Amino acid sequence: MMSPFTVAIDGPAAAGKGTISKAVAAHFDLAHLDTGLLYRAVGARMLTGEDPIAAAQSLVAEDLENPDLRTADVARAASKVAVIPEVRAALLDFQRAFARRSGGAVLDGRDIGTVICPQAEVKLFVTASAEVRAQRRLVELTERGFETDFNTVLADVKARDDRDMNRADAPLRPAEDAVLIDTSDLSIDAAVARAVSAVEAVRER
Ligand code: DC
Repeated sequence: MMSPFTVAIDGPAAAGKGTISKAVAAHFDLAHLDTGLLYRAVGARMLTGEDPIAAAQSLVAEDLENPDLRTADVARAASKVAVIPEVRAALLDFQRAFARRSGGAVLDGRDIGTVICPQAEVKLFVTASAEVRAQRRLVELTERGFETDFNTVLADVKARDDRDMNRADAPLRPAEDAVLIDTSDLSIDAAVARAVSAVEAVRER
């Protein structure tokens, strides 16, 4: 494959972005960066009392290995720090450098196709209804031993959508040239197959 080759995958929480991104990266042998982890790592440090801007500016690789980054509290903190322009600016260079690494890369997040990598060779926007996403998140959280219920998770999903879509800086929205994949009624395999064929269509040009 010609390098660098960037696949930008955006969409709301629990739409299937992570699964699709990992599968696309494995299929095409590309490096993968879950950019949400950067915001989660900053959120986790804010929860310990640090200033989020200072945390973003001093983020190190070990921060991304914090085992607590997947909790609902950290997700909420991540979407709060993500509205701060100085936090977003501090994380920009790392993401751009990753995107242009030789051998190619898949980045998933909220603003990859619109802000981080507007020149990405392939842009996907993966979405699903809020109810479907809340149900998936409920199953995931329950399996991991958290006690919660559908309405709590749905309210959380909607609050996070609202913050992600309505912030002034780099709001969540599809790039004009993004391929939309609505996974509400798709199996994982079917969603991955659509993503793979969208990438293939560009690679074969
Ligand atoms: O994808 P995730 O749930 O791990 O993301 C956590 C939060 O980080 C999400 O609510 C919004 C923010 N985020 C962002 O603003 N931009 C990105 N590229 C990735 C995540």
